[in-house]
Amino acid sequence: MSIMLLLSFGVLCSAVPENNTEDMLSLIGFKQAITYDPSGILKHWNSSTTFCRWEGIKCSRRHPGRIVELHLAGLKLSGQISSLVGNLTFLKKLNLSTNGLSGRLPPLNRLHRLQILDLGYNSLQDTIPDALANCSKLRKLFLSYNSFVGEIPPKLGLLSNLSDLRFNTNNLTGTIPSTFSNSSSIQVMSLSYNHLSGGIPDELGKLPSIRWLALGGNRLIGGFPQGLLNLSNSLRVLGLESNKLGNRLPLNIGDSLSNLQWLFLNRNMFQGKIPASLGNVSGMERLELENNNFTGEIPSSLGKLKSLYYLNLGGNGLEAKDAQSWEFFNVLINCSGLNILALDRNQLDGTIPGSIGNLSNSLEMLTLGGNKLSGIVPTSVANLQSLINLGFDYNNLSGKIVEWVGMLTKLQSLNLYQNKFSGPIPSSMGNLTQLTLLSLALNEFEGPIPSSLGIFNSSHC
Ligand SMILES: *[C@@H]1O[C@H](CO)[C@@H](O)[C@H](O)[C@H]1NC(C)=O
Ligand SMILES: *[C@@H]1O[C@H](CO)[C@@H](O)[C@H](O)[C@H]1NC(C)=O
Ligand SMILES: *[C@@H]1O[C@H](CO)[C@@H](O)[C@H](O)[C@H]1NC(C)=O
Ligand SMILES: *[C@@H]1O[C@H](CO)[C@@H](O)[C@H](O)[C@H]1NC(C)=O
Ligand SMILES: *[C@@H]1O[C@H](CO)[C@@H](O)[C@H](O)[C@H]1NC(C)=O
Ligand SMILES: *[C@@H]1O[C@H](CO)[C@@H](O)[C@H](O)[C@H]1NC(C)=O
Ligand SMILES: *[C@@H]1O[C@H](CO)[C@@H](O)[C@H](O)[C@H]1NC(C)=O
Ligand SMILES: *[C@@H]1O[C@H](CO)[C@@H](O)[C@H](O)[C@H]1NC(C)=O
Ligand SMILES: *[C@@H]1O[C@H](CO)[C@@H](O)[C@H](O)[C@H]1NC(C)=O
Ligand SMILES: *[C@@H]1O[C@H](CO)[C@@H](O)[C@H](O)[C@H]1NC(C)=O
Ligand SMILES: *[C@@H]1O[C@H](CO)[C@@H](O)[C@H](O)[C@H]1NC(C)=O
Ligand SMILES: *[C@@H]1O[C@H](CO)[C@@H](O)[C@H](O)[C@H]1NC(C)=O
Repeated sequence: MSIMLLLSFGVLCSAVPENNTEDMLSLIGFKQAITYDPSGILKHWNSSTTFCRWEGIKCSRRHPGRIVELHLAGLKLSGQISSLVGNLTFLKKLNLSTNGLSGRLPPLNRLHRLQILDLGYNSLQDTIPDALANCSKLRKLFLSYNSFVGEIPPKLGLLSNLSDLRFNTNNLTGTIPSTFSNSSSIQVMSLSYNHLSGGIPDELGKLPSIRWLALGGNRLIGGFPQGLLNLSNSLRVLGLESNKLGNRLPLNIGDSLSNLQWLFLNRNMFQGKIPASLGNVSGMERLELENNNFTGEIPSSLGKLKSLYYLNLGGNGLEAKDAQSWEFFNVLINCSGLNILALDRNQLDGTIPGSIGNLSNSLEMLTLGGNKLSGIVPTSVANLQSLINLGFDYNNLSGKIVEWVGMLTKLQSLNLYQNKFSGPIPSSMGNLTQLTLLSLALNEFEGPIPSSLGIFNSSHC
C-alpha cells in the first residue's frame, strides 16, 4: 500500500515541470550583468545542464525548479547585481560576498523567504533601501565593506528575526535608529567605521540577546550609554573606540557588564577614574582604554583579571607616585597570560618596581615611554624572554644598561630614546639579532659602539 502511494507520488512529482522559466531567465539576466568573471565560472552556466545544477545554485526540493540559494562568493566577479535577482522569490540565501560588484542594491522586497543576505566586501553604492524591511525572515544581513551612503533605514527594526547585522566600513551617515530595540533576536550588530553621529540610543540596552556590539570609528557623542548596563548577561564584546564619547564611566560598569571579554573605549574623551569594578569582569581578555583623558590611580583590581592578554592604558593622565599607587603594577603579575601591556604616555612617577620581572613570561610588548620614571631598570626585566617590543623612551631612567638587554633575544624594537642612561653600550646587545628598531639617542652613553652591533640594520640610532 505504502509502496503504491510512493510510486504514484513519484509520478506526480515528475509531472511537475523541472524548470521555472522565470527563475532561469533571472539567472541569465544575472549572468549578463556580470562584466568580469576571471575564474570563468559563469561559462558553465549553459544549457548543457539544468540550471539547478549550475555552480552556486540550489533548487528547492519541495518546489522543483525554484531557486533557494545563489552563492557565488570570493570569485572576483565584477559588474552589477541584476535587478532580476529580485524575481527569485523562493530565494532563502543570497551570498555574493567578496567580489567586485558595484552599482546599487537592486530591489529585493519580494524575497519574502530570504534568510541570509551577504553582499559584504564589494563596491556597492548608494543607499540601503528600506524595502529590505520586507524581507521579514532575514536572519543575517551583511553589507560590510562597501560604499553605501545615507542613513540606516529605521524600518529595518521591523526585522524581528534578525540576529546578525553587519554594516561596518561603509560611508553611512545619520544616527543609529532606536527602532532596533524591536529586533529582539539581534546577537551581533556591527555599525563600526562609518560616519554615524548623535548619541548611542539607550534602546540598544533592550536587545536581550546581543553578544557583540561594535560602534567604533564613527562620530558618536555623549557619555557611556547607561542603557547598555542592562545587557548584563549577554554582552561579550563592546567596541565604542574612535568616537567623540566623553564624561566619566559608570562606576558599576564592571558589575553590570560582568560577562564582557573585549572592551574597546580607546580614542575617545572619557575622563575621571578607571572604575575599579572592571576588576570584577572575570572573563576580560582585552581592555583598551588608551588615548582618553582618564586620570587618577590605576585600580589594582585589574590584577584579578586572570584571562587578560591585552591591556592598553596608554595616552591618558594616569598617576602613580607612591607605593600604594604603584600597587597595580605588582598585582599585574597575576595576569599570567598577558601579551601586551601598554602604559606609555601617562604620569607614572618613580622607579620601576622589581616585580617587572614577574610579569607574564608570554609578555611580547611592554611600553612605559612618556612617563616620569627614574632610577635604574631592574635587572629582573631579563626574565621577560618573550619580549618583542620594549619601550622606556621619554623618561628619566639612568644607570648602565647591564647584561639584561642581551637576554631579550627576541626583541625587534628597543626604544630607550631620551633618558639619562649612561656608561658603555654593552656588547651583549649584539645578541639581539631580530632587532629592526633601536633608539638610544639623547642619553649619556659613552665609549665605542660595540662591533657586535654591526650585525643588524639599525634604522633609528
Ligand atoms: C520580474 O518580475 C516582474 C514583476 O513581477 C515582472 O514584471 C518581470 O517580467 C519579471 N522579469 C522576468 C525576466 O521574469
Ligand atoms: C557548458 O557547461 C559545461 C559544464 O556545465 C562545460 O563543460 C562546457 O564547457 C560549457 N560550454 C561552454 C560553451 O562553455
Ligand atoms: C530545462 O531548461 C534547459 C535549458 O533551457 C533545457 O535544456 C531542459 O530541457 C529543461 N528541462 C526541462 C525538464 O524542461
Ligand atoms: C558567504 O560565503 C562566504 C564564502 O563561501 C562565507 O565565508 C560566508 O560565511 C558566507 N556568509 C554567510 C552569511 O553565511
Ligand atoms: C512591503 O510589504 C508591505 C506589506 O507586507 C507592502 O504593503 C509594501 O508595499 C511592501 N513594500 C515594498 C517596497 O515592497
Ligand atoms: C521567526 O522565526 C521563528 C522561529 O524560527 C518563526 O516561527 C517565525 O515565523 C519567524 N518570523 C518571521 C517574521 O519570519
Ligand atoms: C567614503 O568616502 C570617502 C570620501 O568620499 C572615500 O574616500 C572612502 O573610500 C569611502 N569609504 C568607503 C568605505 O566607501
Ligand atoms: C516596536 O514594536 C511594537 C509592537 O510590535 C510597536 O508598537 C512599536 O511601534 C515598535 N517600535 C518601533 C520603534 O518600531
Ligand atoms: C534597564 O533596566 C532598568 C531596571 O530593570 C529599567 O528601569 C530601565 O528602563 C532599563 N533601561 C533600558 C534602556 O532598557
Ligand atoms: C583632556 O583634557 C584636557 C583638559 O581638560 C583637554 O585640553 C584635552 O583636549 C583632553 N584630551 C582629550 C583627548 O580629550
Ligand atoms: C566589584 O569590585 C569592587 C571594587 O574592586 C568591589 O568593591 C566589589 O565588591 C566587587 N563586586 C563584586 C560583586 O565582586
Ligand atoms: C649574549 O651575549 C653575551 C656576550 O656577547 C654572551 O656572553 C651571552 O651568552 C649571550 N646571552 C644570550 C642569552 O645569548
